[in-house]
Amino acid sequence: MVVTPWEVRGKVDYERLIREFGTQPLTEELLKRVTKHTDALHLQLQRRIFFSHRDLDSVLDLYEKGTKFVLYTGRGPSGPVHIGHLVPWIFTRSLQEKFNTRLYFQMTDDEKFLIDDDSSLKATRNYAYENALDLIALGFKPENTFIIYDVEDIDLLYDITLEVAKRITYSTARSSFGFQDSTNIGWIFWPALQAAPCFIHKKLTGENVPALIPAAIDQDPYWRVTRDIAQKLGYHKPAQIHCRFLPGLGAGGKMSASEPETSIFTMDPPELVKRKIWNAFTGGKGTATEQRKTGADPTVCSIFQYYYYLFEEDDRKLVEREQECKTGKILCGECKKDLTEKLNKFLEEHRRKREKAKNVIEKYHIKR
Ligand code: TYM
Repeated sequence: MVVTPWEVRGKVDYERLIREFGTQPLTEELLKRVTKHTDALHLQLQRRIFFSHRDLDSVLDLYEKGTKFVLYTGRGPSGPVHIGHLVPWIFTRSLQEKFNTRLYFQMTDDEKFLIDDDSSLKATRNYAYENALDLIALGFKPENTFIIYDVEDIDLLYDITLEVAKRITYSTARSSFGFQDSTNIGWIFWPALQAAPCFIHKKLTGENVPALIPAAIDQDPYWRVTRDIAQKLGYHKPAQIHCRFLPGLGAGGKMSASEPETSIFTMDPPELVKRKIWNAFTGGKGTATEQRKTGADPTVCSIFQYYYYLFEEDDRKLVEREQECKTGKILCGECKKDLTEKLNKFLEEHRRKREKAKNVIEKYHIKR
């Protein structure tokens, strides 16, 4: 298993990541505290898609005493958005609404330029714009959402970035990110830039409040180094809440833009979605007769995961589907067909909202 901000490989063992990264599991008790402020528990918490955290309890302690927090998350715009990226963003949107709080969203057009030999700044900046449309389509409130495009908005980030960079040694950066002699020096400096938005709220408003970062667990190395230096700079340590990876449509592994055949992008046309789902890895048997007799295995099925993560909100129906799969009552073809319909309906609606976002995108820019 390899889990870094730039690479996720092998079967991800989330319990082991909690131990190795030194994060905390989301306990029942903590979720009860969250529910006090949000009425119902978000599906992604209920199903433990978000499964781990750092300092969520401290953020709630402060919140309950009257200190607000801000949300911070982001995207490395190296290509089109896939539905895996939407998982933490959907959850973030709900936090924004329930806690009525600001979101800072960083578009790291510089990061993707530095780490990918074949990319150009023109391409990553263009993807930043395109990806922002996907974000806005999810319903974030413009008055509470501040998108930072690194290249364009570097003047807002640069002083904080320098303060951060000065306090992280090369040895720490190398051991946290695996830098090598061949790594370009832009990339080596770059993690200080992902740290900067954790602290930008104070610069903009004078309020010193913690940032809570919802993201998949691959981004965690950034937060480890940022947390180490935050208090030295007079800020709260940024808190995190980590989600699992939406798997790809193949046998194991996360959905990843570098494997387009097993990823669903928001701009994929219906026929392509159908084809990708049709070719997906499932827990099915060699023949329909055998499957009717012995049932299939939903625990290894990529299709089932999509119902679990995004496309079956009704727990009762989810369990029913699982049982029918295990007992051979439904076959993979039916599950694939249902998912294709649900997914295409979702994407059609998403694209409609995405198109409308073009008229309001400027209202979300941090420099509006
Ligand atoms: P990026 O573009 O790799 O990913 C964007 C967000 O999507 C999450 N993610 C996934 N979540 C669920 N299932 C998946 N299959 C999946 N693949 C990716 C990532 O964890 C991330 O939350 N360096 C960052 C950009 C960034 C950022 C941040 C991210 C800047 N500041 C603060 C999170 C928080 C990047 O390249 O993300």
